[in-house]
Amino acid sequence: MHSKTLLLIAHAPSDNTRRMAEHFLKGASNPDIGDVGCRWVPPLQAGPEDVMACDAIILGTTENLGYMSGALKDFFDRIYYPCLEKTQGLPCAMYIRAGHDGTGTRRGVESICTGLRWNWVQPTLICRGEWRDEFLERCETLGATMAAGLDVGVF
Ligand SMILES: Cc1cc2nc3c(=O)[nH]c(=O)nc-3n(C[C@H](O)[C@H](O)[C@H](O)COP(=O)(O)O)c2cc1C
Repeated sequence: MHSKTLLLIAHAPSDNTRRMAEHFLKGASNPDIGDVGCRWVPPLQAGPEDVMACDAIILGTTENLGYMSGALKDFFDRIYYPCLEKTQGLPCAMYIRAGHDGTGTRRGVESICTGLRWNWVQPTLICRGEWRDEFLERCETLGATMAAGLDVGVF
């Protein structure tokens, strides 16, 4: 049992997005980082109890039709009011896989998380355009940064 938990809520409908989530987990699970556990729960399977039990949260989504995936939106629709009074200040960050844009998704997720009074601890990572393997490194680095920040208590 780890002393702190990082929760990854990631929608991963393609091989590339699945690898992004796996690399985030790999970075967060770096054995040099100490006592942080990272769990990946797909948004349709996650509920308010998962959010209330974590110490930091990372949201991963594709951009579809100019907005976050329907799966991530459904997650927010279900957790918003149950969590509103109980998770204020929760450290959060986000990565987005977007074929060509990503800004509508960033705006949408940021406005919901601001409403929840969550605390952005990393700049949003947008992996935009044609697929590049460097996106995986960026997800891994984001995972390591989140876990390290949680471990040393800077968030
Ligand atoms: C129905 C649909 C709508 C999409 N809309 C957008 C969009 O509005 N903006 C964008 O940047 N990419 C859009 N995309 C591209 C997806 O973001 C991209 O296919 C997804 O992130 C998976 O990327 P991958 O092929 O690297 O796995 C859309 C894809 C689909 C299937």
